[in-house]
Amino acid sequence: MNVGSEAARRRTIAIISHPDAGKTTLTEKFLLYAGAIQEAGAVHARGDRRGATSDWMELERQRGISISSAVLQFPYGDKVINLLDTPGHRDFSEDTYRVLAAVDAVIMVLDTAKGIESQTLKLFQVCRSRNLPVITFFNKYDRPGRDPLELLDEVEEQIGLRPTPATWPVGIPGDFRGVIDRRSGEYIRFTRTARGASLAPEELVDREVATREEGSAWQVALDGCGLLEAIGADVDMPSFLAGKSTPVFVGSALTNFGVRMLLDAVADYAPSPQPRDDVDGAPRPLEAPFSAFVFKVQANMDPNHRDRLAFARVCSGEFVRSMDVTNARTAKPVGTKYATTAFGSERETIETAYPGDIIGLINAAGLQIGDSLFAGPRVEFPGVPRFEPEVFATARPVDTGKFKQFRKGLAQLDEEGVVQVLRDPDMGDADPILAAVGQLQFEVFAHRLESEFNAPSRIESAGYQAIRLTDEASVERLRRIGGIRILKRGDGALVALFENRYRLQRLMSDEPELTLIPILGGVIQDN
Ligand code: G4P
Repeated sequence: MNVGSEAARRRTIAIISHPDAGKTTLTEKFLLYAGAIQEAGAVHARGDRRGATSDWMELERQRGISISSAVLQFPYGDKVINLLDTPGHRDFSEDTYRVLAAVDAVIMVLDTAKGIESQTLKLFQVCRSRNLPVITFFNKYDRPGRDPLELLDEVEEQIGLRPTPATWPVGIPGDFRGVIDRRSGEYIRFTRTARGASLAPEELVDREVATREEGSAWQVALDGCGLLEAIGADVDMPSFLAGKSTPVFVGSALTNFGVRMLLDAVADYAPSPQPRDDVDGAPRPLEAPFSAFVFKVQANMDPNHRDRLAFARVCSGEFVRSMDVTNARTAKPVGTKYATTAFGSERETIETAYPGDIIGLINAAGLQIGDSLFAGPRVEFPGVPRFEPEVFATARPVDTGKFKQFRKGLAQLDEEGVVQVLRDPDMGDADPILAAVGQLQFEVFAHRLESEFNAPSRIESAGYQAIRLTDEASVERLRRIGGIRILKRGDGALVALFENRYRLQRLMSDEPELTLIPILGGVIQDN
């Protein structure tokens, strides 16, 4: 098998959206349009989904088909699409961000009625910090919502991405008729199917017929297109690939309107995997022997399999199950006999994989987030970045006699990236502060501490509002200011925790000589 041509077919993407914007619905419709399922519509009733560890696992249960809860792979035309899950809802955690380190492009789904919401904004900022190409989908156009021109402004203002509509709606939100494909000038009219169970019929309608039949809706759409043309908002591949502009598609995942065009854009616009730079900045050619990096480690996802799964994205070469692979950090061999594609209740063994694909390694002991795996010449890729924690908590063992177990769990769960453990340099493991992106991480931490290390713990919210990286030179001064605590992260980095965000801002402007660096280039800083 030719690695170069296999890599060229891959599109490795994630869908990001605010809860309820339609990510799960769109995922299912992608499967429908790719021919992976014959009928859609079984995914609904939010109430039923409560308690599911992942929307996709629920999707899998309801549809009785094998869908992984972490990655879906399906062919679309001559392409192979790898769609990675970005856990949202209550499951929002550092893992959601880490997924973005493993994809080549993202689809950002906005609810037309709501526009950009807080969670989307954070994810978007991470995309921007990585210059990830973003395709935007204005969803739920079948329902009353906001003016699309207003939404374009919002994308530009809040995220700084220049929106370039590829399609433009005919009809207002709630009375959606179809779209004008601005690239070809064609008008595509849609017809609903019941609950969008099957493909929506698409009809190419002549402009004269459109003028006659769509009336003022057609005229408004033409005016909108005229305006977009006047400001030069056309799809522009170089700036899209550089993460500076975003092609926009309008549609309705529920009724299937615009889904095919969006999927086509993934196939045609999203980049195929490119050679990945190693720690020294030298790219590992796609055709070089196998290499991959671990972007997520998950334990006990499924109560029936009490084991650990490391998710690795293939960067170069061909992966063949059972091949000899080395972990660059430890120089130790890594077992690949139990490589899997499916991470839900049904796992499928994977035999081969190519750049862009995600492999799951079961019980590959000692694998950590950020580890590089290779066959042939050694390679070490830069680690997966750490993200700015937003919630903080104290942790103590309930039973002081279990301090040893508590300590052991603390060390391992920190290493796995379940939470970030911050320690007082003078106090060691006593009274650590846990830092995370979402509360769920604390729940997972407490659960695992109890079930795997037999150390029930008491986790209580700690009153900090912000965190910054700092250095020895600034520590002395920071220690003399109230409301600040200096701690050390697992990797040895010094951090300052602030009880008051406003105080931090004051300090940064009053004493600019102090080292107070936002984690991951200001991602959350603008909030
Ligand atoms: P999420 O994964 O991003 O959280 O969103 P999800 O797909 O679960 O969709 C959230 C709700 O929005 C669902 O309704 C879904 O049916 C609805 N939805 C998704 N896309 C569209 C769309 O294009 N138009 C309209 N009108 N609704 C859409 P629900 O009430 O939670 O469930 P259900 O009973 O309607 O299935």
